[in-house]
Amino acid sequence: MPSVFSMKRYSSPLRLMYRASDAAVVDCWTIVVMHTDAPAKVFAWTDENATEAARIIALYPQGRQASAAMPLLWLAQGQMAEQTGSAWLPVPVIEYVAAQLGMPYIRLYEVASFYTMYNLKPVGRYHVQVCGTTPCQLRGSDDIMQACKDKGLKKGANTEDGLFTLSEVECLGACANAPMVQINADNYEDLTYASMTSILEALARGETPATGSQIGRTASCPEGGATTLIAVPA
Ligand code: FES
Repeated sequence: MPSVFSMKRYSSPLRLMYRASDAAVVDCWTIVVMHTDAPAKVFAWTDENATEAARIIALYPQGRQASAAMPLLWLAQGQMAEQTGSAWLPVPVIEYVAAQLGMPYIRLYEVASFYTMYNLKPVGRYHVQVCGTTPCQLRGSDDIMQACKDKGLKKGANTEDGLFTLSEVECLGACANAPMVQINADNYEDLTYASMTSILEALARGETPATGSQIGRTASCPEGGATTLIAVPA
């Protein structure tokens, strides 16, 4: 039974159900609720997010509301961050979104448990996601991860002060500016050990460090400016 509670994320809900029955616990739903340490407060959209949820759902044809699953989970996770200081999705929140979309809870749980952008347990105020895929790895993601560890962050864990959670994730789509991290919804790119350290220190002081390239590039333009197509046509 302890292993059921200690697993961070399951490969599929079916696996969870299997393990739960193996542990001879009452039923899998009991396990899910206990595992996620659901908040006592009942979740409901804020007025602003209710409007936004309705707008998103209306983007899809009648009968295809389930297509709004991912943006609504993201919206719910953002609301959790605002209301509790931790961007995550307890079971009651997933159930709430599933009910609105008219789909079984387990189908939405499958989505939430597949993508690392959704957190199934509480995270710190700053969720530091270090990209460790090949382009970032070749450009120094090991140094970035080391900078995080040297500031007291531990992979897969929250810091005791509740400020940081450290995760290693796969490609976040900013390979041209590798190595990079995503912290909450912001990207920090062209990182070095020193710049990553500075960003973490700034966040810990309550500051908002500049996002994007840390060496002043505009988007993914070449370092030092353009090298081709620089002649002005006559
Ligand atoms: S490999 Fe890191 S952003 Fe693509």
